[in-house]
Amino acid sequence: MAKKEEIKKIPTHVGIIMDGNGRWAKKRLLPRAMGHSAGANNVEPTCKAAWDLGVKYLTVYAFSTENWTRSDDEVSTLMKLLKQYLEGCKEKCLKNNMRVRIIGDISRLSKDLQETIISLEEYSKQFDGLQFQVALNYGGRDEIIRATRKIAEECKEGKLSPADISEESFKNYLDTADIPDPDLLIRTSGELRISNFMLWQLAYTEMYFTDVYWPDFDKKELEKALEYYANRDRRYGGRKS
Ligand code: IPE
Ligand code: IPE
Ligand code: MG
Repeated sequence: MAKKEEIKKIPTHVGIIMDGNGRWAKKRLLPRAMGHSAGANNVEPTCKAAWDLGVKYLTVYAFSTENWTRSDDEVSTLMKLLKQYLEGCKEKCLKNNMRVRIIGDISRLSKDLQETIISLEEYSKQFDGLQFQVALNYGGRDEIIRATRKIAEECKEGKLSPADISEESFKNYLDTADIPDPDLLIRTSGELRISNFMLWQLAYTEMYFTDVYWPDFDKKELEKALEYYANRDRRYGGRKS
């Protein structure tokens, strides 16, 4: 008999909406910033756990296009943590054989942060272990609009004909052009919504929601999510054979 691990269905691509940092801090009577810091520290262990469990692509939602509406103080805390994380990321890539890409509109980020991102993406291209995406200033609607703009430009320049726009070709204009759609989406902290995450890519993704706050989401919790996924009977609109 095959071992359980061998017969288990593992999702190729897992997306995570890392929610609940604020509530995690509140529960401990700590400032929200401490929750964000604990949340940021949980990213690397999650990457390792995902890879250990057989996941090839992991995409995490770190900062949405709507998160700019938070207080200046909170936005600047989040940007500082993101910068710190991304600056230390080359070392993590080397250690964990991990490639990092950013999805989202980086043009609204500070010049500093943009340079860090470009250099990190270039450096980490060589690694073929975990393919890790960080969604930063990311919104699903914004991504679709940016893709549409690129397509419209190409049509205007005569490089593309409107009749040639298809689901397959449209996908190539998204930030996730070379990345397969997520098989499993996890949202921590109990909210049952998508909050503008990967709207196009989630069309047929299985969804897993847990009440656990992001800083407490560990390998055991990830295993529970993967167990849930393994027991799902995936459908794509057809009939079960
Ligand atoms: C997730 O935690 C982090 C970001 C959205 C950047 P929250 O800050 O949303 O935490 P809650 O939802 O207030 O608990
Ligand atoms: C979604 O969480 C965005 C990230 C995790 C980065 P939010 O906490 O911002 O989403 P809402 O406001 O609860 O929908
Ligand atoms: Mg939240």
